[in-house]
Amino acid sequence: MEKLIITGPTPLKGEVEINGAKNAAVAILPATLLINGVCTINNLPNISDVQILCKILEKMGAKITWNSSNEITIDTRNINTTQAPLDLTSKFRASYYLIGAMLGRAGKIEVGMPGGCKLGARPIDQHIKGFELLGASVEVRNGAISAKANCLKGNSIYMDVVSVGATINIMLAAVLAKGTTVIDNAAKEPHIVDVANFLNTMGADIRGAGTDVIKINGVEKLHGDCTYSVVPDQIEAGTFMLAAIASKGDLLIKNCITKHLECITAKILEIGGNVEDYGDSIRVWYTKRPNKAIIKTLPYPGFPTDLQPQMGVVLSTANGTSIINESIWESRFQYTDELNKMGAKITAQGKSAVFEGVDELFGAPVYSTDLRAGAALIVAGVSANGVTEVYNLQHIDRGYENIEEKFRKIGANIQRVKE
Ligand code: UD1
Repeated sequence: MEKLIITGPTPLKGEVEINGAKNAAVAILPATLLINGVCTINNLPNISDVQILCKILEKMGAKITWNSSNEITIDTRNINTTQAPLDLTSKFRASYYLIGAMLGRAGKIEVGMPGGCKLGARPIDQHIKGFELLGASVEVRNGAISAKANCLKGNSIYMDVVSVGATINIMLAAVLAKGTTVIDNAAKEPHIVDVANFLNTMGADIRGAGTDVIKINGVEKLHGDCTYSVVPDQIEAGTFMLAAIASKGDLLIKNCITKHLECITAKILEIGGNVEDYGDSIRVWYTKRPNKAIIKTLPYPGFPTDLQPQMGVVLSTANGTSIINESIWESRFQYTDELNKMGAKITAQGKSAVFEGVDELFGAPVYSTDLRAGAALIVAGVSANGVTEVYNLQHIDRGYENIEEKFRKIGANIQRVKE
């Protein structure tokens, strides 16, 4: 077992480079199944979710060459099964994208029931509704999902909830369907636009991604021979923006799209932090104790649920009492028990939490309960007085490349050790 040992407090200072977006990469890799050819993907984050997906695709017959640590060439000409390895697919959430992609490619697929962070109930009814409206039949049995279709046909699909995963999955299935599909009440996250751009680069005809109505005109086939660069990770950039404030630091965050960060910038300015926007990089710095705030997580362009725990760290030491309302996930406040071990005063109940700002946090042994909670605990450890030990790093490694190296370069005293 590995753990991180962090000695704080250290104001984080300097420059940090953001990797490609995890949530775009884990959809783009399955999307390569829609072509029967070769394509190169760069700015790919080298994180464990991506490594597992590559293993899954290889087991299904894809040939993957790592050209560098952030670029692969993938050849999908020899895909030879419609059964994704059940043990690997049930390890993480995004394996559900194999369903949309393989329905498009082969009209058939079986995958393990998607796993991923335990954030409360994570239904997939909207994915299934979409596949069925396109003409597929879907069965969930013995921890696996099987879907099949003789011929997918475009349809109008109204999403009952705004879902990132269902929007992308339906887009994947509809790209090669006959006729036009319209997704109404679609999610608008930057990675949805990125997946649509990737598919369009390969010959798809998707319009309106980034708005709440997406129109997909089915095409006969997609072509390979393209190179695509994954969009910068909005959540990783936001994590460092909030780390700059929590640690009383000054960071220049490079390789990001600042338009995607507006919801975070607005809140940082509101609590008294400083932000300078340079378009593809952003400087965030601390000058005074943050003000209290009220935060409600919402689908994009609202404040992202995936930055809620990192914002929770900032509000733990804000001036006054703050409230966070989590509107996406049922159990996203598990990290507050860990922060309370560090001296925070947080009362969480259901989907709300009250943060009574304390003067400072103190180091303690803490356990990451999920991916973003883990990132938040690192930010807390860097900002706290004394030694923090962060356990359960497998969650953090799913979504952040070289996280301790990046924190070390901007001044954190952080080490990964084997127990
Ligand atoms: C994605 C992200 C995750 C992020 C979340 C919300 C990936 C791989 N993961 O997860 O990091 O926290 O978006 O921004 O991109 N819902 C249903 N039925 C469905 C699908 C979803 O009721 O069929 C509900 C969920 O319970 C949740 C809400 O819709 O309350 C949003 O979920 P969704 O956007 O689908 O999240 P994911 O795509 O799983």
